[in-house]
Amino acid sequence: MANTILVGAQWGDEGKGKIIDVLTEQAEVVVRYAGGNNAGHTVIVNGKKSVLHLIPSGILRKHKLCVIGNGVVCDPLGLVSEMEGLRKNGIQVTPKNFVVSETAHVVFPYHRELDGARELLKGKNKIGTTKRGIGPAYGDKAARVGLRMNDLVDSARLEEKLAGRIKENNAVLKSLGAKPLSFKQVFADYDRAGRHLKPHVQNTVVLLHDQMRAGANILFEGAQGTFLDIDHGTYPFVTSSNTTAGGACTGSGVPPNRMDRVVGVMKAYTTRVGEGPLPTENQEISDLLHGMGREFGATTGRARRCGWFDSVATRHATMVNGIDDLAITNLDGLDTVESVKVCVAYRRGKMQYDFVPNDAQILAECQPVYVEFAGWRTPTDHCRTFKQLPAKAREYVKAISELSNARLFIASVGPGREQTIFV
Ligand code: GDP
Ligand code: IMO
Ligand code: MG
Repeated sequence: MANTILVGAQWGDEGKGKIIDVLTEQAEVVVRYAGGNNAGHTVIVNGKKSVLHLIPSGILRKHKLCVIGNGVVCDPLGLVSEMEGLRKNGIQVTPKNFVVSETAHVVFPYHRELDGARELLKGKNKIGTTKRGIGPAYGDKAARVGLRMNDLVDSARLEEKLAGRIKENNAVLKSLGAKPLSFKQVFADYDRAGRHLKPHVQNTVVLLHDQMRAGANILFEGAQGTFLDIDHGTYPFVTSSNTTAGGACTGSGVPPNRMDRVVGVMKAYTTRVGEGPLPTENQEISDLLHGMGREFGATTGRARRCGWFDSVATRHATMVNGIDDLAITNLDGLDTVESVKVCVAYRRGKMQYDFVPNDAQILAECQPVYVEFAGWRTPTDHCRTFKQLPAKAREYVKAISELSNARLFIASVGPGREQTIFV
């Protein structure tokens, strides 16, 4: 399969987990390179649902090496409980098949508290974060005051460094009207988690290069989506990492000239959870999808905002990520729609845009320009080959791939492994 980066081409929740699980069959190694447990990647195997937050979705297949790279921010308590949850379901999680970078930054309770307190302070201008402490943890990393996994697994070092961080953060928390933390409690919890995780923590850069020398194919599991990227997204309504393809290199230590291919995952429509502009947002399609029990967040349970497919956004995503191949998911979500709209440009006053403006304020003022496609109005969830899809559904996926400027690779018609059509 060669080294493949898989990214979300929209606002997250595109179905990356499902596609990673499918593609892992042909990879030996799966690497998470950015984000933290703000992510929720759903995989359904034989009708059994798993939601992965930090551990690469490849863990559900046997004999795959799963790696949390240096670019991830890792909540050790969340990670330990995720590992235990998988083990309870009979999935092996050992130091042989699951390793964590010693330089991944650690998310502490003060990060979560600060995340919540800042959101409260922002009031109606809040970002709508997952409150997992992601922004403050990446903030500490950039400010060079963060603790990394190699600090976590060394009790004496953890004790010393954490004491200083708790002292400083308690002062900030108090000034924001939030409750200070007990050093004793945090240290006890994190030291325990550190001891649990120690056998999994290592130099993953050296490990990945050893794997490549041995001929392994690596799949890089993106989290979030292109428009949640800290640089290329709808700032400030973004997450705090580089979710786009470049993040796979910086977040893993595998250089750009070792990457062979980029797969972009996108839904056949658009969703977003949290605040910020969403040009094609539409009540009718929101009601339709929510009425089917779909589009509720895998991490926070929040109802996702829904809209028509936005090809201005996905074309922009192809440009920024260098997407070669597209996996279009949730095609079946449109099975009952009479006329399917696709946004092909934005209009704002006299201006017409064929790219996504950087300024979130300007984007919020953009009106979508739509073209319409006749709906296929037939169930597609049982289709297993491209030919079996109704002609109008084939036309639709071909059209949105062309508009997105990338090759159609996969059409997905259900959450299960088997509901995957290779084109
Ligand atoms: P991720 O964060 O990109 O991994 O996506 P999530 O798991 O948060 O959300 C995607 C949702 O769509 C999950 O509930 C998946 O099980 C589901 N899903 C993925 N592909 C398909 C599909 O083709 N059809 C249907 N019906 N559901 C899908
Ligand atoms: P996956 O990997 C969808 C959104 C939050 C919020 C913004 C910032 O499952 O696609 P954060 O907690 O990161 O500071 O929140 O980003 N967000 C996601 N939306 N899918 C995700 O991950 C997300 N991770 C963060 O809702 O708007
Ligand atoms: Mg998700």
